[in-house]
Amino acid sequence: MHIIANWKMHGDAARLSAWIAALSPTLKTLAADVSAVLCPPALWVAKAAELANNESLAVGGQDCHGQPQGAFTGAISAPMLASAGARYVILGHSERRTTYHETCAEVAAKALAAQAARLIPIICIGETKAEREAGKTLEVISQQLQNSCPEALNTAIIAYEPVWAIGTGLTPTESDIEAAHSRIHNLLKMRQQTRDIRFPVVYGGSVNAGNAASILAIAGVDGALVGGASLDATQFSPILAAAAEAAKRNTVRNAG
Ligand code: PGA
Repeated sequence: MHIIANWKMHGDAARLSAWIAALSPTLKTLAADVSAVLCPPALWVAKAAELANNESLAVGGQDCHGQPQGAFTGAISAPMLASAGARYVILGHSERRTTYHETCAEVAAKALAAQAARLIPIICIGETKAEREAGKTLEVISQQLQNSCPEALNTAIIAYEPVWAIGTGLTPTESDIEAAHSRIHNLLKMRQQTRDIRFPVVYGGSVNAGNAASILAIAGVDGALVGGASLDATQFSPILAAAAEAAKRNTVRNAG
């Protein structure tokens, strides 16, 4: 299970220290099958990595450029994130696809740049409300997956984030989440026939302390990407606890 906190453009150094200190007791209870990842604004990645050093907490960026360096004012490269202590990077979040017009091809280039810098890309895909209403959800996410997630990747996390569920308090039904995750897992399996690798598929969009346990119990859901509810340690802590429970149940199920 991967539980990823996406702080977006929120937080400061004081919140960072307080958040990690408040979560420390919960982080200590996590077994190896639950990975907690904090993705703060890029400016706080190095500080977060320093503070997370003695914790079961990894750090990630929220975006990176597709080139390792160059004349790209305002941009941050994957090697820069890695040297600041990041191990992951979120790519192709719908806020970037919409606000910054990022294309699938750009996301794919960023994913390869992340891999070259030894970062694990967290590649976001998901349908809009209009696409869902037109019955195109599975078609859209299949296309985004094929075009944003290069076959040359050896490791990645796919985040299924329906655009209409982000920050709205709305979530798809459990069977809709299961259908989307199943489609993503199947597509990945078809592509990776010759390679023995399985990419985790996490769900994102209005995950909170109240619904985390039921979402994480859905077949094919390997974790969550959490926005709003990740800012407050008292809300994020029960989500980590729910992941620990779900991971335990999966172990029992797989052994049985
Ligand atoms: P949310 O955001 O949890 O606030 O809906 C999720 C995300 O955008 O990654």
